[in-house]
Amino acid sequence: MTAIRIEPVVENLSPQLSDELGFGRQFTDRMFMHRYSEHEGWGEPTIGAYQSLVVDPAAAALHCGQMVFDGTKAYRRSDGDLNLFRAEQNCRRFNRSAERMGMPEVDENLHFEAIKTLVSLEHRWVPDVEDASLYIRPVLIATEPVLEVRASREYLHYIIVSPVGPYFADGFNPIAVYVSHDHVRAVRGGTGEAKTPGNYAASIAISESAREQQCQQVLWLDALERRYIDEVGAMNIAFVYGDREIRTPPLSGAILHGVTRDSVIRLAPDLGYTMNESRMSIDEVWRDIENGTITEAFGMGTAAVIAPVGRLVMQGREVTLNNHQSGPVARELYNVLTGIQYGRREDSYGWTTRVATNQISSSAAAD
Ligand SMILES: Cc1ncc(COP(=O)(O)O)c(C=O)c1O
Repeated sequence: MTAIRIEPVVENLSPQLSDELGFGRQFTDRMFMHRYSEHEGWGEPTIGAYQSLVVDPAAAALHCGQMVFDGTKAYRRSDGDLNLFRAEQNCRRFNRSAERMGMPEVDENLHFEAIKTLVSLEHRWVPDVEDASLYIRPVLIATEPVLEVRASREYLHYIIVSPVGPYFADGFNPIAVYVSHDHVRAVRGGTGEAKTPGNYAASIAISESAREQQCQQVLWLDALERRYIDEVGAMNIAFVYGDREIRTPPLSGAILHGVTRDSVIRLAPDLGYTMNESRMSIDEVWRDIENGTITEAFGMGTAAVIAPVGRLVMQGREVTLNNHQSGPVARELYNVLTGIQYGRREDSYGWTTRVATNQISSSAAAD
């Protein structure tokens, strides 16, 4: 594995973290960059100052959208070190996304090393407040200036990090979800399994109209029959039947292989739940919420971890779950997962990687 060059950077010694951190609005002093060209292969990987990118206006990413990204987090432990949570799964998914979009793979070991080094150098940016963390955003973009629709011959792989607060301003409170019939997100065989910006761009118009109806997220139905539940916004979704059974839609080829979803599938049986991956139609789910068979629903994703659903809105009708309160199953899963992530709970699954924060950084201190 090629060694990462660490350039001196003028550090902001005491970062000004705004009271309302929000999600991905502030960025730290440094970033990782690694360029690729078909002729020369990968160049020297570098961690240097956070900076604007100089990208040719004809760069393929800006025209064909040949671009992928991912997202994971570093959590502050009570001893001051940081924990990464299953970040190697994100490295693997990053390469699967790249493959789907006809892009070169990155060296997964180097990518993981870059994440560890970057968060260790930027640890002062991890906010010391409840439920806050450092969000890690790796990106791969096609930089060759070419308008032809074909694979670019040049790429930039970079990683930026951002101190984040809880994803939803209201914290662990139920969200309202708008069921989309007119707009679909992804189709089997398409790019729904890849984390590529087009999937998210396609969700913006409908998410804005959902917001006008006081819904924070959109529930996506399958693109062919517009009947089966896929996922919710940038989260996978699960439903609780009674108080001991959890069901989530299977990986259909159209939805993202969520790391949080996979963690819930592995955790739930150890907590005494029956876990089922099964296709669920919106009509069946609506009926089961109305007759009380479904007692809770929740989204699963890195940003919110577990987001209880309190209300579904569909074609002028609405239905409430658990009296619009967060339910005990969502709460238990949230507590167990965040307990492991923040190092408050024993990690018997080997999911966390500890990153020491006491290493000496190569920096030029700001006055
Ligand atoms: C479309 C979509 N589904 C599900 C997820 C949840 O995945 P994860 O748990 O890996 O964050 C995400 C977030 O990355 C997403 O963007």
